[in-house]
Amino acid sequence: MESLIERLRDAQALAKLVGEAPAFLKAIRHVPDVANSDATVLITGETGTGKEMVARAIHYLSPRAGSPFVPVHCGSLPDTLLESELFGHERGAFTDAHAQRRGLIAQAEMGTLFLDEVEAMSLKAQVALLRVLQDKKFRALGSSHEQHADIRVVAATNAPLKQLVQAGTFRVDLYYRLCVFSVHLPPLRERKGDIITLTGHFLKKHAPREAGSELQLTSEAHETLLAYDWPGNVRELESAIIRGIHLSRANLIEVKDLGIPSAMGSQQNLPITIVSTEECSFKAMKQRMIETFEREYLHRLMSEHQGNVSHAAVAAGKERRELGKLLKKYRIDPGLFS
Ligand SMILES: Nc1ncnc2c1ncn2[C@@H]1O[C@H](COP(=O)(O)OP(=O)(O)O)[C@@H](O)[C@H]1O
Ligand SMILES: [Mg+2]
Repeated sequence: MESLIERLRDAQALAKLVGEAPAFLKAIRHVPDVANSDATVLITGETGTGKEMVARAIHYLSPRAGSPFVPVHCGSLPDTLLESELFGHERGAFTDAHAQRRGLIAQAEMGTLFLDEVEAMSLKAQVALLRVLQDKKFRALGSSHEQHADIRVVAATNAPLKQLVQAGTFRVDLYYRLCVFSVHLPPLRERKGDIITLTGHFLKKHAPREAGSELQLTSEAHETLLAYDWPGNVRELESAIIRGIHLSRANLIEVKDLGIPSAMGSQQNLPITIVSTEECSFKAMKQRMIETFEREYLHRLMSEHQGNVSHAAVAAGKERRELGKLLKKYRIDPGLFS
């Protein structure tokens, strides 16, 4: 009989999941068994912890691997659109429905439907999804007959779903249907042992082939990676390494190339304690502090919103255009965070 570790290794290889830290292995230890069943799975964890990767691992290890894996980013679609995307619609079902359209549930037939940010589903869509899970049936918008659905549902959220149930915005019956199995991915700061392994993986993945094996990080850069708390988790680490690769000189990635907010902050904050007021005017010092704050803020903002400037602008309470200008000022490329 295959040992658990061998099966886990298979699973990891298949989904290219990198990580050996105990907290990570513990989190994914049931993935192969979960994959074999046809039950729904709820994957929880902060943004960038690898929820979608784990969902793919579950699909590709499952008997449904030969059929499609269909991801749906529930948070990025308005209510009405989400329903028509999921269930499909008949011609004329609503004003813009000029032609009949197959929904994502139909596209995932025999395969896996991955509902990312599942907390964003409207209560109406939740009812319909519940029906898919319970009776394996759904109805396209504007259609009078029901269709059969043979899909497996894997959902993910970084919201406290239980609290949303208590608040009445998420249906309790759907909640229990979704979490027959649950997988909770730890934040990167709780699996710091994987930072260096992941860094090596991302260097290989993103460095141009010629540079590949020669690229190295300075020891300060290593220390910085280990000391940082990674609010955007593995996605943020990957972005830092991509920045490092592009900004490095002579095959050496230095701290400044990584563009990590706290590292830049600490470098630039230092003068406040070590430079005497004689050397630096109040005005100049204040300006420097503001710039440090702005740069750090923008990095975090972009990381938390995965480079989506419109979402980030709403969260920051700024006009999109103004935010765009600030990003330009600090030469922060939102594309590196997506
Ligand atoms: N364990 C891991 N091994 C390798 N890459 C990872 C791992 N976890 C996350 N990533 C990388 O981080 C990015 C974000 O992962 P994702 O699964 O989209 O996170 P989430 O869905 O939790 O926000 C992915 O593009 C992937 O490249
Ligand atoms: Mg995701």
